[in-house]
Amino acid sequence: MQKVTAIAKRYTKNHDIEAVILPVFSDEKDDSMFQDYDALLNKQLSQTLDENKFLREDTTFTLFYTNKKTKAKLIAVVGLGKKEELSLEKLRQLGGKSFSYFAEKNISSVALPLISIKKLKDTDESTTEKVARALTEGFMLAAYDYDQFKTKKEKEDKEKKKQKIAAMQLLVFNEADFQKSQQAIAAVATIVNNVNLVRDLINGPPSIVTPEYMAQTAKKEIANKPYTKITIFDKKLLEKNKMNCILGVSQGSVNEPKLIIAEYTPPKYTKTIVIVGKGVTYDSGGINLKPTGYLETMKDDMSGAAIVLATVKTAAELKLPVKLVALAPCVENMPSGSALKPGDVLVGASGKSIEIGNTDAEGRLILSDALHYAATYKPDYIIDLATLTGACIVALGNLCCAIMSNNDTLKQAITKAGKETNEKVWELPLIEEYKDDIKSDIADIKNIGAGKGEAGTITAGLFLSEFVGDYKWMHIDIAGPVWTTKGSAYTQKGATGYGVRLMTQFLIELSAK
Ligand code: BES
Ligand code: ZN
Ligand code: MG
Repeated sequence: MQKVTAIAKRYTKNHDIEAVILPVFSDEKDDSMFQDYDALLNKQLSQTLDENKFLREDTTFTLFYTNKKTKAKLIAVVGLGKKEELSLEKLRQLGGKSFSYFAEKNISSVALPLISIKKLKDTDESTTEKVARALTEGFMLAAYDYDQFKTKKEKEDKEKKKQKIAAMQLLVFNEADFQKSQQAIAAVATIVNNVNLVRDLINGPPSIVTPEYMAQTAKKEIANKPYTKITIFDKKLLEKNKMNCILGVSQGSVNEPKLIIAEYTPPKYTKTIVIVGKGVTYDSGGINLKPTGYLETMKDDMSGAAIVLATVKTAAELKLPVKLVALAPCVENMPSGSALKPGDVLVGASGKSIEIGNTDAEGRLILSDALHYAATYKPDYIIDLATLTGACIVALGNLCCAIMSNNDTLKQAITKAGKETNEKVWELPLIEEYKDDIKSDIADIKNIGAGKGEAGTITAGLFLSEFVGDYKWMHIDIAGPVWTTKGSAYTQKGATGYGVRLMTQFLIELSAK
């Protein structure tokens, strides 16, 4: 994968850089930077735009070759449409497209102006920091590539005419913006790095990314940060803590389970948050084996674990004033002679007995032990993230997760963070009456709901709610958005890295209060 950097830079006329991007709007006159370049190019830019008004709405780049009239070889005009319609997401996409477009053009440095804007559509606070962050975030996120297993990298890059964009400059026009942009960019570099850690863990082959590998990664990536502590519950410690659900799900696998605990305790904090992430490093379904067509992406079933660990790392690196604990139960769900069977009963750390109706509903089992353990920290909030149900993808597709919660403040905060990061969330109701569907004839509760899978995402959420006591809690079903078969302006095919930005934004806002 290619290394990219971004820096804030004071704008100078006839800026010294290979390519300059000039955003234009359809409802506002062009800024002074545009006018500078228009003058250097003998009005070529304004004439083209006057003759082709649609270019102000055209989100692809219109390229101008400058033939030594400016220091930049290329000027790319991009239409952003109406300024009043502008959003953080559009800026993020512009950043992403700026990377991909110039990566194919033998260009190693590009400049993007810090767009000055009073009101963005998807945030209440249209600040310099947020604009700077969105532009840079898109650019840096787009540079990810999972090529660890490509043996002919260089040749392929040449074939794809991919060249190295190494640097992006965010051009600023006054000193105050310079400082703010510098800070925003530093935060983005940290966040994107950790999004990419999640992407690597999810994209990694499941026989490499085992529970043990997850534990080693947590140690390597987090343990050396200030105020952090990593604890690993291995099989023995899981037994000691009666975490029989984690043990039960993993008993069919040759790879031992691990509960990874990553704590970040800064010197000053007012709130304690526990984030719990499902870490099924491979979900074959177990004895209820999944068929072909469903097995191929099940290496992504540890996304929740990857996200919570990367979020702790991010919080530590950004020095956020919140106490944050990640609990990541990591197991492999495999069929074998020793595997859990439908009809079995497990009694985990909570003491509740659980009848196994289907070994493929394993996520809620391992989460039950971890959610119960979360109370140890007497947290203000518990949030779990899990690729829990296929039903969630049926309901909301691949661009949105489902949130379920017993607390309105938490719902509002996560919804706001979802809007600002464009990591979309949508609430599903925890309908009490559906609890009937998870009643068991022989145990306290069972791990599947109604016969035809009615409201499967909600009954999974209701199951989890049985293990959080009275704590303020939210369940986030991320089955859809963690993986993509398409790619977009700033995500590639495969793991999207969804979740880290959502959680980080939530924590930043929370710690600002
Ligand atoms: N990991 C799956 C959920 C999933 C399915 C995520 C497809 C992404 C894509 C989970 O462990 C699972 O298998 N859930 C079952 C639950 C059912 C047996 C009650 C499901 O959704 O089919
Ligand atoms: Zn699963
Ligand atoms: Mg399963």
